Amino acid sequence: MSTVLYPGSFDPIHNGHVDVVAQAAELFGNVVVAVMHNPDKPSGLLSTSERVRIARESLAHIPGVTVEAFTGLAVDAASSVNALCIVKGLRTPGDFEIEQQMAHTNFSVSGIRTVYVPCQPGLSHVSSRFIRDIAQHGGDISSMVPAPVAAALAAAFK
Ligand code: PNS
Repeated sequence: MSTVLYPGSFDPIHNGHVDVVAQAAELFGNVVVAVMHNPDKPSGLLSTSERVRIARESLAHIPGVTVEAFTGLAVDAASSVNALCIVKGLRTPGDFEIEQQMAHTNFSVSGIRTVYVPCQPGLSHVSSRFIRDIAQHGGDISSMVPAPVAAALAAAFK
């Protein structure tokens, strides 16, 4: 049984994230979901505390999972929880290009490795950005997100 760190923006968490957490929990035992800041996505929808609360509600059914907010570097967050490695989900070849560069960078500065988990085929289209767009215009996001997310976004765009 090991602990792994799953960092992301989670703005909001969606069914693809939940699937990756479930797979990681099955493989490693303990998963720390790290709600972090992505400098490429400066204008978020939900506050950090809302992202954490909603992620906790959405992941409560998976044993071995905790959700925390972290500032700074993902590798420092991983060290602080004694993580064996960082886990990232892959949906598309585009994800791989971005994640591979981050994985190599994170390894070169810290020695912490990244393990990729492929998402279920039926979830490869799911993206937080599109979910925000659709919710903002009153569309139906219920097939892509856990119930707490649908409720939070409905309230945010009321
Ligand atoms: O869900 P996202 O937006 O793809 O997650 C990206 C995230 C938050 C994991 C990435 O931006 C990150 O690791 N941020 C923390 C700062 C950091 O470690 N930067 C160096 C990356 S090589």
